[in-house]
Amino acid sequence: MCPGAIATPPAFALIVAHDAARGIGRHGTMPWRLPPDMAFFAAATRAAWPEAESTPKPPPPRQNAVVMGRKTWESIPPRFRPLPGRLNVVVSRSAEARAALPDGVLGAGGLDSAFAMLAAMGDWYPWLPVAPSAATPPPPAAPMPAVFVIGGAQLYAASLREPQCRAALVTAIEQTFPCDVFFPDLAANGFAQDAASSEHAAASGELQGAAASVFPAAALLPHPGAPTTMTHKAVTFAFTSWHRISPPTTA
Ligand SMILES: NC(=O)c1ccc[n+]([C@@H]2O[C@H](COP(=O)([O-])OP(=O)(O)OC[C@H]3O[C@@H](n4cnc5c(N)ncnc54)[C@H](OP(=O)(O)O)[C@@H]3O)[C@@H](O)[C@H]2O)c1
Repeated sequence: MCPGAIATPPAFALIVAHDAARGIGRHGTMPWRLPPDMAFFAAATRAAWPEAESTPKPPPPRQNAVVMGRKTWESIPPRFRPLPGRLNVVVSRSAEARAALPDGVLGAGGLDSAFAMLAAMGDWYPWLPVAPSAATPPPPAAPMPAVFVIGGAQLYAASLREPQCRAALVTAIEQTFPCDVFFPDLAANGFAQDAASSEHAAASGELQGAAASVFPAAALLPHPGAPTTMTHKAVTFAFTSWHRISPPTTA
């Protein structure tokens, strides 16, 4: 990049687990305990992208970034934060809250400044452009670090207004839990669900073209080859992926 040039904000993906009513949290914490989803979250956010079937891959040149709201940061038990192996970025309007973050955790006063900091670090996994066409360049062959927005509700809603928000990895839980914060409706925000994203389809070759480039993490699913719907201690869920098909109307 030329000195003084303004870097393009990185493309990024949302990663979320929500219930049948799109509830995601209650009283500042998660309403459920779902270890397979926690394992998937860790694998997807730590992987070098695009992740292929053959692992291990060489490490990315830089760590992936996980961008979160201040309340989500505070919802992580202190012994588990910052999330290891990832660049943690916490968004808060409070200078005091940002100053209290531990060394190595980036504080940003807004999403724009979070993305500007990340853009200044170099290139990130491009996810998928809106309206891919034959002219769309293929996803990078070599692994790249990726940017994820990991919540909570305020950050997801703000992120969906950003055109560089290109993909969403959604753990869809069939039951409904008492929740006080909710995930937006992706279809109403210009996203379409990828077919068969829950079935380890990238590895089996069923997931073609656009969807495969969005969801190579199918290879990371905790139960490869498992049926679409999985159950853990009476919680029924499926891993799904979505990609943006039209730009945000309010961008
Ligand atoms: N199910 C899931 O996958 C999942 C994932 C993550 C979180 N969660 C749950 O979601 C809940 C937290 O979500 P939440 O919506 O209440 O909070 P949040 O989005 O995590 O954090 C909100 C805070 O982030 C800062 N913020 C938000 N938008 C901003 C902006 N545009 N510019 C600057 N700062 C901004 C503000 O911090 P300041 O007040 O400091 O200014 C705001 O109070 C918890 O229950 C958590 O467990 C669930």
